[in-house]
Amino acid sequence: MDSAVADLPLASPLTAYRGLEDRLLDERIEAVRRRMGGRLVILGHHYQQDGVIAHADLQGDSYQLSAAAAARTDCEAIAFCGVHFMAETADILVNRPEKVADRGGRRVSVVLPDMAAGCSMADMAAIHQVEDAWADLGTVVDTARVVPVTYINSAASLKAFCGRHGGIVCTSSNARAVLDWAFARGDRVLFFPDQHLGRNTARAMGIGLEEMCVWNPHEPRLGGNDAARLAASRVILWQGHCSVHAMFRPEHVDAVRRAVPGVKILVHPECAMEVVDKADLVGSTSYIVRQVESAPAGTAWAIGTELHLVKRLGTNHPEQSIRFLSPVVCMCATMYRIDLAHLCWSLEHLEAGRPVNVITVDDDTARWAVTALERMLAVR
Ligand code: 13P
Ligand code: SF4
Repeated sequence: MDSAVADLPLASPLTAYRGLEDRLLDERIEAVRRRMGGRLVILGHHYQQDGVIAHADLQGDSYQLSAAAAARTDCEAIAFCGVHFMAETADILVNRPEKVADRGGRRVSVVLPDMAAGCSMADMAAIHQVEDAWADLGTVVDTARVVPVTYINSAASLKAFCGRHGGIVCTSSNARAVLDWAFARGDRVLFFPDQHLGRNTARAMGIGLEEMCVWNPHEPRLGGNDAARLAASRVILWQGHCSVHAMFRPEHVDAVRRAVPGVKILVHPECAMEVVDKADLVGSTSYIVRQVESAPAGTAWAIGTELHLVKRLGTNHPEQSIRFLSPVVCMCATMYRIDLAHLCWSLEHLEAGRPVNVITVDDDTARWAVTALERMLAVR
């Protein structure tokens, strides 16, 4: 055993890891990866800190990481460097009943290094609110013709709701294909929790703003709409948003265009419509990475997505000129909770057979959530 591991009792609390130098934490994380080999898979979302992403077997966007979890069914454990809904999704997909049966009943442990790594947008739609909205909606339109679509940034219970009601999950990289799927099966879509992704995607499909309305879950009746407005709406947008992407403003686009002639504005579809309308290119985090990777040297970019990804692109592409779209810091505080101390702590406990922060979705929720997730994976 490495001397560093031997120095620390395996039941050590997280506090014992906090004061350790990054260099030592890096060594210990790599030592666990070496010893566990293919039994361990570390997945990292693009918004993770550089120090954490350096240890990931795969770095990607929400769709790519879900697909990886669905495909990697042979490992013993997945450490998910991302946020809670991503680890839940990985647990649901990697522990599909037929996969668990293939492994002789063994589940893959999905570990989230810090349980406080949540998502403020996912928290804007609770299952009781969505169920209430569905019942309320049913008093004015035929919900048999409404397809519920949840952004993957949502709790497993919302994905299960979609599975039960003929609906589907989407990510920012397949939202348009998913809406096409939904409109082939119904007249209307209830889209939650991100109003911006829903609105931006629907508009790109040619659906006008007059055919959309916003459902405010805090309003006592019909989400603050009248029956006529709902009847005229093809897309009912839940009033949720990403607090990180909400900080990009159209005036930031104007300012950077004035300052940098020829600059290309590249933004994530969680940004407000007014920002997306002024941008040159719009897409998921992996789309943003691909655009930069394939651009000629000397391209000037202003990028509207989470700060850690934009900084990494700047470091990896010194041949291009990459700036952050906003003058203020827009970083995801919950993604940032995953640090080397939490990663090392969770991996050493996992290896020692005393896993911490294991994410487990109950069987009934998982059964219906996987229905909605498999529909999504099949659409692309
Ligand atoms: P993607 O990974 O789909 O680009 O979404 C970004 C995001 O906000 C994840 O929480
Ligand atoms: Fe949630 Fe926004 Fe953070 Fe993504 S960036 S995890 S949507 S708060």
